[in-house]
Amino acid sequence: MPTTLLQISYSLGNIESAAHQFWQSAHRYNILAFSGEMGAGKTTFIHALCNVLGVQDAVSSPTFALVNEYHFDEAGTDRTIYHMDWYRLKDTQDAIDAGMEDNMLQNDKYSFVEWPEKAPELLPRPHLWIAIEATAPEEREMTVSIME
Ligand SMILES: Nc1ncnc2c1ncn2[C@@H]1O[C@H](COP(=O)(O)OP(=O)(O)O)[C@@H](O)[C@H]1O
Ligand SMILES: [Mg+2]
Repeated sequence: MPTTLLQISYSLGNIESAAHQFWQSAHRYNILAFSGEMGAGKTTFIHALCNVLGVQDAVSSPTFALVNEYHFDEAGTDRTIYHMDWYRLKDTQDAIDAGMEDNMLQNDKYSFVEWPEKAPELLPRPHLWIAIEATAPEEREMTVSIME
């Protein structure tokens, strides 16, 4: 049974403060899986989170590239984020063939994964499962669970 770490509602007007609050608990985990329907707000939240972290690279949906690499400074140390989008992948084997597993095996790097439901078995544990739902046209509810 997964433990709920956090539940937050936010709009575009306060998404950065939601991302800041999120990171205070989420930074201890390096695998973050963002689940939710098309248009739920996965890319938008990752974009806001990267802004909060001080990422200078352009953050965009890696739907075609499958993975984008970003960097930010964490207390004087350069940290890497792999932003993946598994939407175009069929299943776990397809994800392995595309090299998605290798991205997640480095403990000193963060992986932010959109469409993790395409290959959930591939996610190393522990990881965070972040479910995003539209509760109103401009409001989203995020539930963050620890997958031990
Ligand atoms: N509170 C909110 N959080 C995130 N996106 C929102 C919010 N309110 C409205 N939106 C809109 O919903 C859409 C989310 O798109 P996107 O982030 O690309 O979704 P996904 O990556 O889940 O497919 C954007 O057009 C965004 O402007
Ligand atoms: Mg997206």
